[in-house]
Amino acid sequence: MNFNPTYIITIDGTSSSGKSTISRLLAKKLNFKLLDSGKLYRSAGYIACDMYDSLDMVKDYPGLVSKISLKPNINSHEYEVYYKNKIIDSLLYDENIGLAASIVSKVPQVRESMYNLQHSCVQGNGLIANGRDMGTEVFKDAQLKIYITAEINIRARRRFEELIDKGDDVHYQDIYNSLKKRDDSDINRDISPLKIPNNAHILDTSHVKPDAIVDKILNLYTITNN
Ligand code: DC
Repeated sequence: MNFNPTYIITIDGTSSSGKSTISRLLAKKLNFKLLDSGKLYRSAGYIACDMYDSLDMVKDYPGLVSKISLKPNINSHEYEVYYKNKIIDSLLYDENIGLAASIVSKVPQVRESMYNLQHSCVQGNGLIANGRDMGTEVFKDAQLKIYITAEINIRARRRFEELIDKGDDVHYQDIYNSLKKRDDSDINRDISPLKIPNNAHILDTSHVKPDAIVDKILNLYTITNN
């Protein structure tokens, strides 16, 4: 019997497939809270860089996670990350932090410590949880599981345009290569690899706009919630 009335939608998938945009739109439409688990691993990477001179010097892996606290933003409902009493979300998206996140996210003690933090986000009438292992590991009993992907050349083009718009000096081929490397690492790692969860609905965003994907998920929600 399920005593928890919170409806959980997991959204897993490849990098730059549109998970974040879709999750935000969906959280707004459904008035659900939103957990971006990638942001938690980025935060653990950020804290490791703040506390230690190098990542091989980290001694207390659970300590990287216990220093994170989460609070939902009152407008977007997205959980924001607090470290040393400050919101650090905007500091998590540079290349170094991404690299640190990809290293600490492979450490079993870090992943184990994340469970409680992620489960603490199950509050209110609903939660959208996005990442790599939301439907396979963290929220195995979620009522609706989505797996989002898109062709790699389209994801690389999107990421390239995003960075060019930000004013970064980048080359398409480098972005393509690094995305391919991330896919390989996400899919082939030993611990919590990216997999399509059982019973997940697979949505390809290559030629479909985020709004249309959101409508499809809202339809699935209506069907599964009745
Ligand atoms: O989705 P992202 O790029 O913000 O994720 C940052 C890193 O965290 C990336 O290396 C993948 C990892 N990650 C993970 O291991 N498990 C998750 N559920 C989400 C992200």
